[in-house]
Parts: sequence; structure tokens; C-alpha cells
Amino acid sequence: MKENLFSLDGKTVLVTGASSGIGKETAIMCSRMGARVIVTARNADRLSETFGQLNADVDGHAMILADMTVKDDIDRLLSELPALDGLVLCAGNSTTLPLQFGSRDKFDSMFDVNFFAPVELLRLLYKKKILAKGASVVMIASIGGTHSFMPGNGVYGASKAALNSIMKYAAREYSSRRVRVNSICPGMVDTPLIHRGTITEEQLAEDCKKYPLGRYGRTEDIASGVVYLLSDAACWVTGHDLVIDGGFSI
Ligand SMILES: NC(=O)c1ccc[n+]([C@@H]2O[C@H](COP(=O)([O-])OP(=O)(O)OC[C@H]3O[C@@H](n4cnc5c(N)ncnc54)[C@H](OP(=O)(O)O)[C@@H]3O)[C@@H](O)[C@H]2O)c1
Repeated sequence: MKENLFSLDGKTVLVTGASSGIGKETAIMCSRMGARVIVTARNADRLSETFGQLNADVDGHAMILADMTVKDDIDRLLSELPALDGLVLCAGNSTTLPLQFGSRDKFDSMFDVNFFAPVELLRLLYKKKILAKGASVVMIASIGGTHSFMPGNGVYGASKAALNSIMKYAAREYSSRRVRVNSICPGMVDTPLIHRGTITEEQLAEDCKKYPLGRYGRTEDIASGVVYLLSDAACWVTGHDLVIDGGFSI
């Protein structure tokens, strides 16, 4: 048995959305825990910054630019990837969009990036056997999928609820190759995502008071959950949505 079950030594992990926020922290923490990490996102400068912070004691890290919603980019990504022991589906977006101001095309674009893109990537990685036997998949969903956590975030929440739902079906189907599939449902985490919408800083400060542990999440709060689910410590955990929300949903 491994001395440290939480170590990612010897594992190769792909992290999507690695140029910012939760994905960036996750990539860096995975590399510090011993994993060879492949980072992907669209923005070259920000992705290079993440790449530069990966643990240099581990060989073979790589960065691949790709838009998760563009088929040619996905095909190229698949052609460049080595076998994976871990997959973190973190790329995503959110928009505050009250239903009365919404439209079908806006709903579609939210579902494209938050639901269809990660599901399609997972499907192809499994089908092409790039996901190794016994691999672990972590989807970053949201408590927005289970609670009305922020006014006007219904379509975002619905896209994350859909992701959480398919996670359980994938966990059951992929168990035949011992591939584990889980999700994490974070509460509000302080990343660029929550500051670029229409919610004001005053509204965020007010909302923060709803968190029993007295603050919004930090990216490392979520990344450490990802490390656990990727590690052998979680080898009997599949089909689970891990809520990390400072007590918001109690
Ligand atoms: N922050 C929160 O409060 C919170 C709470 C619950 C769940 N989440 C989820 O956590 C995940 C990460 O969010 P975050 O807060 O870390 O946001 P963030 O800082 O804005 O990071 C989002 C990441 O997704 C990438 N991305 C977006 N669209 C993409 C596309 N079409 N193709 C490829 N990459 C794309 C971005 O990279 P490029 O722009 O370089 O492509 C970036 O790396 C998201 O799925 C979000 O829904 C966040």
C-alpha cells in the first residue's frame, strides 16, 4: 500500500479551465502533490502563467490551448494527450440572467460551455481509452445546481444540475473500467468569475454573510477536494457530489 494515499505521485492529470481561479489552483496543487499535469484553456498568457507555477520537480507537464466548445480544438486536444489517470472538468462560465431577460441562444451558450463541452470531452476520452483503467474524473458543478443561491442564476444553476445528474450515470456506466466519476459543488468562491458579472461588490459582501463559516471560499478549499477525489484515498468513492460551501447549504 502507498505510504501517502493522498499523493498523486505517478499520475497524469488533465485540468480544463486551468488559466484562472479554481482550475489554476487545482493544476498547481495537483503538481505539488506529485502529478504530471496537462493544463488547458483559451487564453495563452494566463495559461502560461499557470504552467510556469507547476511543480518543476515533476517532469512532463504540458499546456494545450483549446476552446472546449470548438470541435476542431477538441480533436487536436485528444490527438495530443497521453493516457490520463485524472481528469478535472473545470472550464465554465456564469452569467446573471433573470429568465425575463433571457433568450434561447443565451441559454444555449451557457449549456454549451458548462454542460455539453465537459460531457463531450469526457465521452470521447473514455471512448478512445485515453482515460486509463481506474482513472478518476472530477466535474466542477455548483451549489447553484441544488439551491437558488444567487438571484438570476437559474440557467447557470440548471446547467450545473444537469452536469451533476450525468455525473451519476457516467459513474455507473464507467465503473466497468473502474473509472470513478464524482463532482464538487462549491459555494461562492473568490475568483474573477464572481467579480465580472452584474452583481455589485456591496451585494457580494451582503451575500457573504449567509455563509456560516464566515467567508466565501478560497480556490484552495476546492482544489484540495479535487486532490482527494483524484487520489487513491478516494478509491471507493464514485457517483458522489461533494459539497464544499462553508456551510451555506445547511
Ligand atoms: N467561483 C465560484 O463562485 C464558483 C462556484 C461554483 C462553481 N464554480 C465553477 O468552477 C469553475 C471554475 O470557475 P472559476 O470561478 O475558477 O472561474 P474563472 O476564474 O473565470 O475561470 C474559468 C476558467 O474556465 C475557462 N473557460 C471558460 N470558457 C472556456 C471555453 N469555452 N473553453 C475553454 N476554457 C474555458 C477559462 O479560461 P480561458 O478564458 O482562458 O479560456 C478559465 O480558465 C466553473 O465551472 C464555475 O462554474 C465557480
